[in-house]
Amino acid sequence: MRGGSQPFLMCCDDGETYVVKFSNNPQHVRILANEMLASRLATLIQLPVPDHAFVQVSQNLISGTPPLKFETVGHEEQCAAGLHFGSKFPGVPSQTLVVDFLPDRLLRKVTNLSSIFLGAYVLDKWTCNCDGRQVIFYRSIEQRGSNYSATLIDHGFCFNDGEWNFPDSPIRSLYPRRLVYESVRGLQSFEPHLARIENIQASELEGCLRDVPPEWCGGDPDQISRLAERLYERRRRVRQLIIDAKESSLRPFPNWG
Ligand SMILES: Nc1ncnc2c1ncn2[C@@H]1O[C@H](COP(=O)(O)OP(=O)(O)OP(=O)(O)O)[C@@H](O)[C@H]1O
Ligand SMILES: [Mg+2]
Repeated sequence: MRGGSQPFLMCCDDGETYVVKFSNNPQHVRILANEMLASRLATLIQLPVPDHAFVQVSQNLISGTPPLKFETVGHEEQCAAGLHFGSKFPGVPSQTLVVDFLPDRLLRKVTNLSSIFLGAYVLDKWTCNCDGRQVIFYRSIEQRGSNYSATLIDHGFCFNDGEWNFPDSPIRSLYPRRLVYESVRGLQSFEPHLARIENIQASELEGCLRDVPPEWCGGDPDQISRLAERLYERRRRVRQLIIDAKESSLRPFPNWG
């Protein structure tokens, strides 16, 4: 697949297809923990994300599949065997059309467009997603002319990539196509997701850390608990972070009075 972490589309033994990010990807091992934690947080606040899975890849498969390698300038490295992060493809690949971008005319018709993008914005401010917002759009190949659905992907740079800190900036985390923010009239436009985050329980956050493999935490597995504590501490700052973005030079919400 495209992308800085050089993920692979893989058919797994549960019969499903996953976009797999490997632990020795060219970005950072922690992007796997970030993907899993952010997916669970998104689900907690009722935002659509692909199902995720632990994908066990054997050395035999890697040795017998030469394309399973990473390429960086002047350097190649085989994918490592072991446990990796899988983001489920939304359907059967031969029957499902998946795209990263839509022209405005089709983007406007996406099911629940505002709710998904405004909810994603709240999630991204909370988790300090240092990447732009990314989604995929999908529909059945057969149903030509039907509207696309959207689901949130790529949470590798939440919590500032491998840093696990929160360098908040009012210009981060926006989707490049601003029409998705046209419906914003004020803070109330970010509900119910904003209130869900503000009222989250510490125990719910702890639940999201469950079984994140220590080897995805980059040498210091205990730090992920500290990360969850900081998320809990900052849950009521999100409101102000959105106001800061509204007042930034980018003026992302032109209809906020
Ligand atoms: N669950 C999924 N189903 C279908 N396609 C997906 C899924 N997840 C990712 N993709 C596709 O794979 C591509 C790469 O995924 P992603 O953006 O998560 O990788 P990345 O390496 O983190 O990218 P970046 O360069 O933005 O850091 C996406 O642009 C999208 O087309
Ligand atoms: Mg990406």
